[in-house]
Amino acid sequence: MQPADIEKVWQIEKQSNRFPWSKGNFEDCLKSGYRTFLYAKDNEIIGYSVVQSVLDEVHLLNICVNPGHQGKGFGRQILNHVIETALEQSAAIIVLEVRASNIRAQQLYLSTGFNEMSVRRGYYPAEQGREDGVLMGLELGMFAQLGQNLL
Ligand SMILES: CC(C)(COP(=O)(O)OP(=O)(O)OC[C@H]1O[C@@H](n2cnc3c(N)ncnc32)[C@H](O)[C@@H]1OP(=O)(O)O)[C@@H](O)C(=O)NCCC(=O)NCCS
Repeated sequence: MQPADIEKVWQIEKQSNRFPWSKGNFEDCLKSGYRTFLYAKDNEIIGYSVVQSVLDEVHLLNICVNPGHQGKGFGRQILNHVIETALEQSAAIIVLEVRASNIRAQQLYLSTGFNEMSVRRGYYPAEQGREDGVLMGLELGMFAQLGQNLL
């Protein structure tokens, strides 16, 4: 992802999330050197991911598929790419937070091997008050030992 992509990315972000990131959030991630990936086909943005690495821990901060392309397997492909890049940098674990109500994303993570680690009470803003965040983690030892063929 480059600064020039942010406007288009933000349009997708707004269409895909009830509480989207701001443009500034994406700009800050680029400035901070977070790993930001854009996935495109025929000049159209399919989706994106934003990843922060701290020592051997990878934090998946954002993953999103353009609404017109959701439910076609792209989310799984993007998640697999995030796992591959984490393995390349010898990370031990990928962690993420997901809204308790976001069953679709949780299904994707659970079916990839993520486990629920804890619940962060009132972590997210919601239409009425706050919503819990579920902290999920994928330990990468198994992938590192058995190879990326598991993906
Ligand atoms: C969550 C998201 C990234 C998934 O991407 P996607 O391309 O729609 O998902 P895929 O087609 O790759 O499907 C992956 C898995 O998600 C789950 N899934 C997909 N659609 C689903 C639905 N309607 N209901 C429940 N689970 C669903 C399934 O487990 C599916 O695996 P399967 O097809 O093998 O059964 C995408 O829906 C999205 O961008 N949502 C808005 C932003 C968001 O919520 N990001 C996650 C924040 S933590």
